[in-house]
Amino acid sequence: MNKMDYKQLVADAISDAIDNQVSTSDIYTKIENPKLSKNGDLAFPAFVLSKTMHKAPQEIAQEIVTKIDGVSFDKVVAAGPYVNFFLNKQGVSEQVISDILVEKNHYGDNQDGQDRVVTIDMSSPNIAKPMSMGHLRSTVIGNSIAKILTKNGYKPIKDNHLGDWGTQFGKLITAYLKWGNEEDVKKDPIHYLVQYYIRFHKEDQEDPELDVEAREWFKKLEDGDPEAVRLWEWFRDASLKAFKQTYQKLNVDFDTYNGESFYNDKLQNVVDTLKEQGLLEKSQGASIVDLSDEDLNPALILKTDGASLYVTRDIATAIYRDKTYHPVMNLYVVGSEQTYYFKQLKAVLKKMGLESADGLHHVPFGLITVDGKKLSTRHGNIVLLNEVLNESVKMAKEQIAEKNPGLNNKDQVAEDVGVGAVIFGDLKNARVDSIDFNLKDQLKFEGETGPYVQYAHARAESILKKAENPNFEKSNHSLTDDDSWEVIKLLQEFPKVVKHANQNFEPSDIAKYSLKLAKAFNKYYDHTKILVDDDELNARLSLVKSVSIVLEESLNLLGVKAPNEM
Ligand code: ARG
Repeated sequence: MNKMDYKQLVADAISDAIDNQVSTSDIYTKIENPKLSKNGDLAFPAFVLSKTMHKAPQEIAQEIVTKIDGVSFDKVVAAGPYVNFFLNKQGVSEQVISDILVEKNHYGDNQDGQDRVVTIDMSSPNIAKPMSMGHLRSTVIGNSIAKILTKNGYKPIKDNHLGDWGTQFGKLITAYLKWGNEEDVKKDPIHYLVQYYIRFHKEDQEDPELDVEAREWFKKLEDGDPEAVRLWEWFRDASLKAFKQTYQKLNVDFDTYNGESFYNDKLQNVVDTLKEQGLLEKSQGASIVDLSDEDLNPALILKTDGASLYVTRDIATAIYRDKTYHPVMNLYVVGSEQTYYFKQLKAVLKKMGLESADGLHHVPFGLITVDGKKLSTRHGNIVLLNEVLNESVKMAKEQIAEKNPGLNNKDQVAEDVGVGAVIFGDLKNARVDSIDFNLKDQLKFEGETGPYVQYAHARAESILKKAENPNFEKSNHSLTDDDSWEVIKLLQEFPKVVKHANQNFEPSDIAKYSLKLAKAFNKYYDHTKILVDDDELNARLSLVKSVSIVLEESLNLLGVKAPNEM
């Protein structure tokens, strides 16, 4: 048992009291956190046992109370059909705080992953298009999941599956040769390339010849025509350089950038293997894998002209990852509009008998709009991630100039706050929810924002600074007043939140937790004179230090910086 898991403690005590008539794990899931503190720290609804025990819940509640061994609890009381547990505050606070002070940023670590590898397919923007707010979600969600996996003992590998191959490059080359200008592309590659792309899509409505040309150019590219390859490489390098600037701003790095083109020489093997396994069928000139037994449309592997598709490259990718990394899980952090596609991919890989196919998880997320605006490159309606980040940092700078003009390191703090606000503004939402992003709201120091959590952390740090060399060691950490108890209970929950976030690939669990902790701490801060020199001074400072550690680690798990002053 995790020594900090008080729910488990309660479940064990109940199970003992009823002579194990119901398993502890069943009891565990039924234990509640009462809304009102007068109902204790944890509560058990006894009616869940009335069927098994053939008794009225009130009676069962009474029975549990008389039989329970109370050392871990201040008191255990029956309230109608409920049993309310009041934890021993002194013991609990002593335990939680000393654990955090010893383990520091490793508090909440566990070894569930046993060093097993998890590949994360994330960010994966398309070359020659701007990285939009849509790609922000994949990047920051994937990055946070990687950190959460590490904390749970896994070894994540972050792979950027760049969209750097496909028919759109035929379009881009055609457009560039028609309307492009070398100097322009050198100056601002993504801006101009996307203009050509948009123009292509406008003009091909009137002029179907353009599409024919585009297809020819893509064929040339696939056949290794030097001019086609030269242009493609140029576009790719220039785009990647721009993407990397954004990643740097977001503090996200990747283990590999194996884009779609990386698998070009591995596609024949996919086709051969599918053939050998008798999975490839001809259908109206194209090659498909039939998935009707899974109630799915067939996966199109080769077009009539023999050209490969997105899924062909994804099959090659999955095989490559399987062989290279032997992952227990292969996560794809990709928008929910591709849900059906990933079902097909998984079905094909299972038919092929790929070892890691069962561990393939599409980790979907909802749409993002910015101030109500949808994002689409084709129609020229784009909100550029870079612009949003720059704007956010600029606004953070203005806020700091107003609130704390004497601050050292203003530029760095503005960067941490501005970028953190954007990341947090995304990650606080349940992954699958669609979100409308409003920068002004996300930058507020009040409310459910990144800066709110960062500010609580900075507040804690500033108290510790004022206290000058607090001695955490020699203190006794037990605090029993209501405000510190609320904080301690939350601190105690952190290891469980870390596990839960991992099980559901859900960074929002951590973000929501950090908001709660920040709020409880602010309340404590408002109600308590922390720096008074009395017997409990060290205990209070230890609590403040613990909060600072756990807030910083929570933000870290989200990929958000925690400045000491702001
Ligand atoms: N490039 C794609 C897009 O932006 C996402 C790729 C996702 N990863 C994958 N292995 N299919 O829509």
